[in-house]
Amino acid sequence: MESHAALLRESPRVHQTPHGWTPHGWKERKALQQPEWPDAAELERILKHLRTLPPLVFAGEARQLTRSLAEVAAGNAFLLQAGDCAESFADFSADSIRDRLKVILQMAIILTYGSGVPVIKVGRIAGQFAKPRSSPTEIVDGRELAAFRGHMVNDDAADPLARIPNPNRLLAAYHQSSSTLNLLRAFTKGGFADLSQVHAWNQEYIATSPEGQRYETIAGEIDRALRFMAACGIDLNREANLHQVEFWTSHEALVLDYEDALTRQDSLTGNFYDCSAHMLWVGERTRQLDGAHVEFLSGIHNPIGAKIGPTASPDEVIALCERLNPARIPGRLTLITRLGATKVTTALPPLVEAVKKAGHPVVWVCDPMHANTFQSDSGRKTRHFDDVLAEIKGFFSVHESLGTWPGGVHVEISGDNVTECIGGQLDQISEDELHIRYTTTCDPRLNARQSIDLAFRIAELLKH
Ligand code: PEP
Ligand code: CO
Repeated sequence: MESHAALLRESPRVHQTPHGWTPHGWKERKALQQPEWPDAAELERILKHLRTLPPLVFAGEARQLTRSLAEVAAGNAFLLQAGDCAESFADFSADSIRDRLKVILQMAIILTYGSGVPVIKVGRIAGQFAKPRSSPTEIVDGRELAAFRGHMVNDDAADPLARIPNPNRLLAAYHQSSSTLNLLRAFTKGGFADLSQVHAWNQEYIATSPEGQRYETIAGEIDRALRFMAACGIDLNREANLHQVEFWTSHEALVLDYEDALTRQDSLTGNFYDCSAHMLWVGERTRQLDGAHVEFLSGIHNPIGAKIGPTASPDEVIALCERLNPARIPGRLTLITRLGATKVTTALPPLVEAVKKAGHPVVWVCDPMHANTFQSDSGRKTRHFDDVLAEIKGFFSVHESLGTWPGGVHVEISGDNVTECIGGQLDQISEDELHIRYTTTCDPRLNARQSIDLAFRIAELLKH
């Protein structure tokens, strides 16, 4: 629960909702990437229903995450934002949620243990159901179909009928987000995330791998540290931080009708919060300054993110900071750069220098996935582990040379043993092996072993 003291502490620099802002004001602007719903009356009926449903998150939680992200902005913590590219209605089970959470908890432990820096854990989960697309159509098995836009909008089946947007999916996305979040809350508060469970997060197929064994070593050291503290007479049962973790949700605020319908006015402060997730971000394709998405995000009080691609100019980024965080609240705005392994060291410095000079307290995060995607000879989209690592290394070195804090990483991962990204340690995945377990509905994800391997590499960078 949030105390009055905490509210007073944040009051001197409260983020003001822009004058005249409403959750529907975005409708006056150009909204890119919106589904063409075939039946406006059906859509309206569903949105009306969504507006009556309980919020998925509470405003006080969003404020707490903003404060944690302020610690990242100040260089005292690191953000791990990870999960699916696109969550799936088909792959929806307790096991799938648990396995994704396990990998994120493992990555967080590796980062925390390896670097000694607190790690803020934010999932791309419980709402990540909508995808921006570069082209309105795609070729599947030689046939041109309307593009798949995420299960909140249409189905990925190779069938023209499946690709017709159906607003009932908005409701299904809400309900799947709700039960996913419920289980995440149960897992993270009810004992599963207890530090005494560190071994149990290592899934069997990982435990036998070199990455899994390296993880086991840390887990064993944590066990020893806990036993040592207990032997010193410290009552570990009373230390809540050893038994629970804070785990937050996030997704791209893409389908604005959905986000608008889940926006609620907080009774405590009178401010608006998009209660579909704790944190929302605007994607590279929809971050136009005068566009609908930026207008929407400018008025909600959640912590927000903006993806920044290689074409962004320093002026554009400063204008985005001014528009999204005019009061310069630390933790309010996270800039998620996705520049590509070959461009990061030249494209990032001018952006960081400009933001630094303008005095904007942003959280800098590296998304090493989205500018490193290419098509393999078999036609599957993939990413090379080495490129992912190279962009992260470039990100760290730029921040080191400019004296700014490399605040975090934003990665697409799976809890399963998927074969979607190539490379990785020892028995690397090759292009020929992509077909074996390529199950993503959108972009290629790191599998659990690649994710754990990556966490060890990042921990080493953080240590330095
Ligand atoms: C994504 O995060 O899945 C995505 C589409 O990213 P971007 O907007 O950076 O392309
Ligand atoms: Co993606």
